[in-house]
Amino acid sequence: MSGSSLRAQFTLEDIRGSSPAITHLKEMAKRVAQTDFPVLLEGESGTGKELFAHAIHNLSPRAQGPFLTLNCAAIPEALMESELFGYEAGAFTGARKSGKPGKFELAHGGTVFLDEISCLPPPLQAKLLRFLQYGDIEKVGGISRTKVDVRVIAASNRPLEAMVAEGLFREDLFYRLNVVRLAIPPLRERAEDIPAIAAAIMEKLNRKYPHLKKQISPETMVMLQSYVWPGNVRELENVLQRLFALVEGETILPHHLAAFLPVGPWEVTADRPSLSQQLAMMERDMIQQALRSTGGNKARAARLLGMPRSSLYEKLKTYKLGY
Ligand SMILES: Nc1ncnc2c1ncn2[C@@H]1O[C@H](COP(=O)(O)OP(=O)(O)OP(=O)(O)O)[C@@H](O)[C@H]1O
Ligand SMILES: [Mg+2]
Repeated sequence: MSGSSLRAQFTLEDIRGSSPAITHLKEMAKRVAQTDFPVLLEGESGTGKELFAHAIHNLSPRAQGPFLTLNCAAIPEALMESELFGYEAGAFTGARKSGKPGKFELAHGGTVFLDEISCLPPPLQAKLLRFLQYGDIEKVGGISRTKVDVRVIAASNRPLEAMVAEGLFREDLFYRLNVVRLAIPPLRERAEDIPAIAAAIMEKLNRKYPHLKKQISPETMVMLQSYVWPGNVRELENVLQRLFALVEGETILPHHLAAFLPVGPWEVTADRPSLSQQLAMMERDMIQQALRSTGGNKARAARLLGMPRSSLYEKLKTYKLGY
């Protein structure tokens, strides 16, 4: 195993956005990082659960210790126990002579991140509960228990409490894990974070491919904020990468974006102005800016905005701008 995979890569600075929800979550992350309590991260796919797990570890006194991840949904059930807890020499046919340490042992002094914890099979739920209660683990084929000093962070994109209600997840384990629960809202509920996150994504791409340098036009940004993003930040990243790779020219314009987003899920939520309202607000702003920079000269403002003077007069009336 390479050294780098034992380190948490992301820090609090990598979490962009300053919506009340994100600001609050970052505060909570800082606070819980000072303790060893388990943390349960809940949120739809792509909302940043893994990012928060890394950040909490890096904020904690364990930052210099290892950070190990096990994705419970990605690994066959038969292998999960030995991956997590290791096995003793000769534990089963084909086992390594020397035995093998599990993630908990390897993470001693650090953090184990259990991703998709809802997929942890019941026997392992019991073993994890035991660890959370007594701080020790038992290897596969083992005869004794070993104390390990490990902080557990778990993530789920399904609300664990609902799974408890359905009898699919142990209630006692849920309560142990649920000491601190951080619920990350979907991106559509914090559209105000989109410009900062999109800007960070573009910055990264521009740094990596300076010869392809691109920017997002203000109108495109408004559109990005109006889309519902079922795949959350991951989908936003994906769309911006595609636009970055395929758009000719330096500026990503609304018609480029329109060609890349699926037609379906545009939605106007109650707490956010509709797309046309947002476009109107932006238009009004741009007109005001143009007039300000031309000292109120409408002919020059119209030229600056690339619109006929007659249209500008129309807009001034529509937006009740008294120039
Ligand atoms: N607030 C944010 N600022 C910047 N980047 C973010 C933010 N939230 C998420 N990302 C980025 O979005 C992508 C998805 O985030 P992450 O992998 O943490 O999501 P997740 O909740 O673990 O998703 P899944 O449930 O699918 O595993 C990552 O590349 C991550 O860096
Ligand atoms: Mg994840």
